[in-house]
Amino acid sequence: MEHPADFAKGLSIGIIMDGNGRWAQKRGLPRTAGHTRGAQVFQDIADYCDELGVASVYFYAFSTENWKRPAEEVGAIMKLFGEYLIKAFDYKKRNNRIVFLGDRTALEPRYQKLMDEIEQGTAHKTGMVLNIAVNYGGRQEILRAAKSLAAEAAAGKLDPESIDEELFASRMYTAGQKDPDLILRPSGEKRLSNFMLWQAAYAELVEMDVLWPDFTREDLDAAIAEFNRRSRRFGGV
Ligand code: FPP
Repeated sequence: MEHPADFAKGLSIGIIMDGNGRWAQKRGLPRTAGHTRGAQVFQDIADYCDELGVASVYFYAFSTENWKRPAEEVGAIMKLFGEYLIKAFDYKKRNNRIVFLGDRTALEPRYQKLMDEIEQGTAHKTGMVLNIAVNYGGRQEILRAAKSLAAEAAAGKLDPESIDEELFASRMYTAGQKDPDLILRPSGEKRLSNFMLWQAAYAELVEMDVLWPDFTREDLDAAIAEFNRRSRRFGGV
């Protein structure tokens, strides 16, 4: 019998890791405990995507809006991210390219340095691309692309008429990468929440009732099976 995961090869998957706070609250734990568990699930699901032959995966770890959370919670998420960055050096031994999406200039300089090193150290890898969005916002990403093109046009280096989708996409954090085929949102919410607004144009949205810290490899299989049941027409018939 075919396994849903047989269809995972070559797919590009976006994942909005949601529900960490609710998972912790349900257990009478501080919200940060949900993020700790969420970070472990992130690593396991990233490994599973790699095992399945997924082409690229995009994890939404921290949005440009998440700074509004209490300082303690922001600090805890950043600490988990920092711990991950140290571990990510192991990925140099693996065949994954790691890319960080978002405005990293707001992050601690030592994190920025690690992020640059990890990206450079894995740039030549040919396996799955593991994208992690940190201080990322879809609107901000579009504005950044627009500003870079406008600056070139103003300098007389670019004819505004020559701006097409391909050129615009080349100014995104995801330059050169595949758009997500499906975007998965656990925790029952049905929103994109400023995630990959440009790249999501034809993505299938799959929402699931499980909270991210409870998310399992079987849940990913189920999401891929749901994606395969849908017929994608890209505006055609
Ligand atoms: C959303 O759940 C989750 C976040 C804002 C943080 C996600 C961060 C991690 C999983 C850990 C750090 C990341 C890496 C890459 C190591 P929520 O807090 O909004 O949940 P709620 O809606 O139940 O409150």
